Amino acid sequence: MNLKLKVWRQQNSNSKGKMVTYNISDISPDMSFLEMMDVLNNELIGKDQDPIAFDHDCREGICGMCSMFINGEAHGPDRLVTTCQLHMRKFKNGQTITIEPFRANAFPVIKDLVVDRSSFDRIQQAGGFISVNTSGNTQDANSIPIEKNDADRAFDAATCIGCGACVASCKNASAMLFVSAKVSQYSLLPQGKVEATDRVLNMVNQMDEEGFGNCTNTGACEVECPKGISIENIARMNREMLKASLK
Ligand code: SF4
Ligand code: FES
Repeated sequence: MNLKLKVWRQQNSNSKGKMVTYNISDISPDMSFLEMMDVLNNELIGKDQDPIAFDHDCREGICGMCSMFINGEAHGPDRLVTTCQLHMRKFKNGQTITIEPFRANAFPVIKDLVVDRSSFDRIQQAGGFISVNTSGNTQDANSIPIEKNDADRAFDAATCIGCGACVASCKNASAMLFVSAKVSQYSLLPQGKVEATDRVLNMVNQMDEEGFGNCTNTGACEVECPKGISIENIARMNREMLKASLK
């Protein structure tokens, strides 16, 4: 495949970025999108040019690092996959592909396609945990019966990999899908009930402090989420928030 790539280049968080065009040839349709980026970077290095900075780690859809906005969609045109799981066969020979970072005020660009998502870490630190007594009398988790539907919904919420595609896809740059997945995964389980009130209040406060926008129920987040996190989690978080504010 021969492709024209228009890639966002930005030296650092203070400099002004711009789209730069690269032509690339002999790309196999079976390559992953990141392997195609590796080929381009090898060519740039061979010409003594600065390679394109992009985030990646596991390259198997688990870590949530590969944050690219491809042809106007977070993680590109395929559904339920991350950028590292996207294959070049999803594109046509001769196609122009635009590649940008995930854009949101709360995700400032560090360099090229790499953004700072530590705002998500701070939201997690505000309440995305449970406190467990490890004094030696710890109860075996399997001895607490959990209703199958609740276990399944908690598991589905827990599959959120914190990639930020929901924020990048939202016209308001809202983080509600991410935060609601984290709140739901605990609120559905008995282990999460103890700190439920503080958790939702602290996580939502931190989300607002980080500068994410509000949710207007557009649903773009659910469509672009690589893990299929449902917006029913947002409704659950709103109910948890209401309960907590009345206490
Ligand atoms: S809810 Fe989906 S899109 Fe948002 S951070 Fe989690 S996995 Fe990524
Ligand atoms: S590199 Fe880990 S999810 Fe893509």
